[in-house]
Amino acid sequence: MALLDRAKRLLWNIAAAPERTDRQAAAAVAIEPLMPARPLQLTRLDAAFATLVGPIPASCRDTPSMISLPEKQFLFGLASRYYAGKGLIVDAGIFLGASTRCFGEGLRSNPRQEDIVRALPRPIVSYERAIVNPNMPRFFRKHGLPVSAAPGESFEAELRRLIEPVKELVDLRIGDFMDAPELDRPVEILFLDILKSSALSLRAFRLFYPRLIPGHSLVVHQDYFFEELPWIKTHQEGLANYFDFVGEVGSSAVFRCRKAVPRPVLDGLDDLPPAEQLRLASIALHRSADPARRFFMAVSKMRLIRKLQGRAAARAYLESIKAEFPEQVAQTDNRRLVYALRRAEEFLARKPKKAHKEGTRTAEQRVPSA
Ligand SMILES: C[S@@+](CC[C@H](N)C(=O)[O-])C[C@H]1O[C@@H](n2cnc3c(N)ncnc32)[C@H](O)[C@@H]1O
Repeated sequence: MALLDRAKRLLWNIAAAPERTDRQAAAAVAIEPLMPARPLQLTRLDAAFATLVGPIPASCRDTPSMISLPEKQFLFGLASRYYAGKGLIVDAGIFLGASTRCFGEGLRSNPRQEDIVRALPRPIVSYERAIVNPNMPRFFRKHGLPVSAAPGESFEAELRRLIEPVKELVDLRIGDFMDAPELDRPVEILFLDILKSSALSLRAFRLFYPRLIPGHSLVVHQDYFFEELPWIKTHQEGLANYFDFVGEVGSSAVFRCRKAVPRPVLDGLDDLPPAEQLRLASIALHRSADPARRFFMAVSKMRLIRKLQGRAAARAYLESIKAEFPEQVAQTDNRRLVYALRRAEEFLARKPKKAHKEGTRTAEQRVPSA
């Protein structure tokens, strides 16, 4: 009997062995290799999207831009390998057109390009007012660009020159985005780098979000992990029931639309109760796997606290951030981290701006690289 039992157990072990091996293999696949990434350099995307960050043509890499190389690679990869022509690619706030160039060149290498362009002759809709702001001349000089336009003047000619090779694919809309009319097509890929005020953010959400395709469309928020512009975080997280977080690349966060966003929910973003805004800012804070990005998100939340609860509460929160992020505060050789903290201190030191001015990102061209 004992012999029979032992034989049975042996047979059971042999039968069970492959199952355990499969489970172990599955567990091994689920574990991401821990890549050493410098602060603010981490790229972490859902497995289905990670492979989109690959080589790009030199023309895309070399177009002067405020976005990082991995972000350019991701946009190129989206247009070449994700985009199916089910709707438009919307590129809002293109400055000198680097993102539009990435989308255009990416689309050129999309195997479905001919069908897409037959159905949608100019599938990339790009928005930009192309007016020089006080920080742009420095950017033009740094990149050796032939732009002599002064603040308040137009840089449209330079933008058109830089996107010339893809212009047949682009519906370029020059002007104030606040006056942009409704689109009459679905939006398949939405890249937003124009949400520099709460009003611009609400405008973009109302214009584009009802056009997203459930289960497919992607929203890429370029300023999501930027330490300012808190409304981007609260507006997007206010719609968490309708989106899945796909990951982070550069300072961009990527979300996929899970289900259609009802119009009243979008309208409600304008009027979220203060406690809800703070809750959403806390949720946003934990999206990143990079402690340096979480530090930025906390600094962004400090700005929201200043608006909702006043300067003393914001000061207390900034002190708690310093205690909670000791490594980030101590990295005095990282220009981005130092800059973020210095700007936070300056922000607390000055009187609040008038409501209509709040959120204009005057420093957008002054942000040093990490
Ligand atoms: C941070 S920059 C975009 C950088 C760009 N994505 C790149 O790759 O370099 C933001 C852009 O939004 C544009 N912008 C800001 N407010 C706007 C508005 N109300 N209408 C149209 N464009 C606007 C600015 O002119 C600026 O070029």
